[in-house]
Amino acid sequence: RPVDRVSLVEMGPRDGLQNEARILPLAQRLELIAHLAESGLQRIEVGAFVSPKRVPQMADSGALFEALPRRTPVRYGALVPNLQGLQAAISARVDEIGLFTACSDGFTRANIGIGVEESLVRFAPLVTEARRLGIRVRGYLSTVIACPYEGPTRPKRVAALAERLLDLGCHEISLGDTIGVGTPGTVAPMLDAVLHEVPAGRLAVHFHDTYGQGLANLLPALERGIRTIDCSVAGLGGCPYAPGASGNVASEEVVYLLHGLGMHTGVDLDKLAATGQWVSEQLGRANGSRVGRALHAK
Ligand code: HMG
Ligand code: MG
Repeated sequence: RPVDRVSLVEMGPRDGLQNEARILPLAQRLELIAHLAESGLQRIEVGAFVSPKRVPQMADSGALFEALPRRTPVRYGALVPNLQGLQAAISARVDEIGLFTACSDGFTRANIGIGVEESLVRFAPLVTEARRLGIRVRGYLSTVIACPYEGPTRPKRVAALAERLLDLGCHEISLGDTIGVGTPGTVAPMLDAVLHEVPAGRLAVHFHDTYGQGLANLLPALERGIRTIDCSVAGLGGCPYAPGASGNVASEEVVYLLHGLGMHTGVDLDKLAATGQWVSEQLGRANGSRVGRALHAK
């Protein structure tokens, strides 16, 4: 049987830390990233070139990239909201940028100060410039199940916007259940609609675990051939503009599940779990991964 590989995109240092009350000093963030890379993760989102007034946790992303030892084949990504962010990301020599918009105007306005249509207009020249410089562009689409301000999202809306991000030149679209309210019952029809417009190979899923459905929601994605999964060590994270949302589905849980299904991730679960335990202690919070806690208790 051919090896069934799944690519994990580690969100802990960005989505994870952006919502933690305690700001992790640069040296510890670098240590976290080094541990994550040593555990075998090859795509790690480590920063965001956003307003430091809005997200102080990511304020020193430039300094972080400067100090970050590069180790092929690991790729380091960062969020970019606008031209100012792109310029900072280019100076920082990021491997991949993430542009981010949503299916709903309410969330997009709260998050980046403009509506969805306006965001796509803004992104077009950013994608062109990034690609000209050989920087890969990921397109995040938030609120794919529901918006904290506007309620449920129609699957057709998600499909149309995912296609537009692809047409802009994004190499991959990450579908975000930002507030973690989806179940396989709502995720499956959303994915079916999107897969009409965008091939599975260009999609990633980004599930927050607010209602404990993150892992269950991976199954309809895997069944439909999606092989890129966003996750966060120790289940860190949330979004400052999505009140009450908790972290991404924990990386340890995702690796445990995938290995149980006979899939290949390239990740050493014991090393990853040790990293999750370590970062939880640094942050003075409980370890948000059940797999992490179980392995730590052994
Ligand atoms: P703004 O205040 O609406 O607009 O910010 P502005 O362009 O008038 O700028 C105001 C100030 O911000 C100015 O500084 C700019 O220089 C500065 P001042 O003159 O007041 O001193 N500024 C910047 N500084 C640093 N880097 C920049 C930048 N741009 C402007 N790139 C802006 C608009 C987009 C910047 C702001 O709204 C912002 O930073 N938003 C980011 C919000 C954010 O980071 N959210 C979390 C990430 S998204 C997420 O978590 C969801 C995801 O995980 C997927 C999912 O779960 O669904 C991806
Ligand atoms: Mg997120």
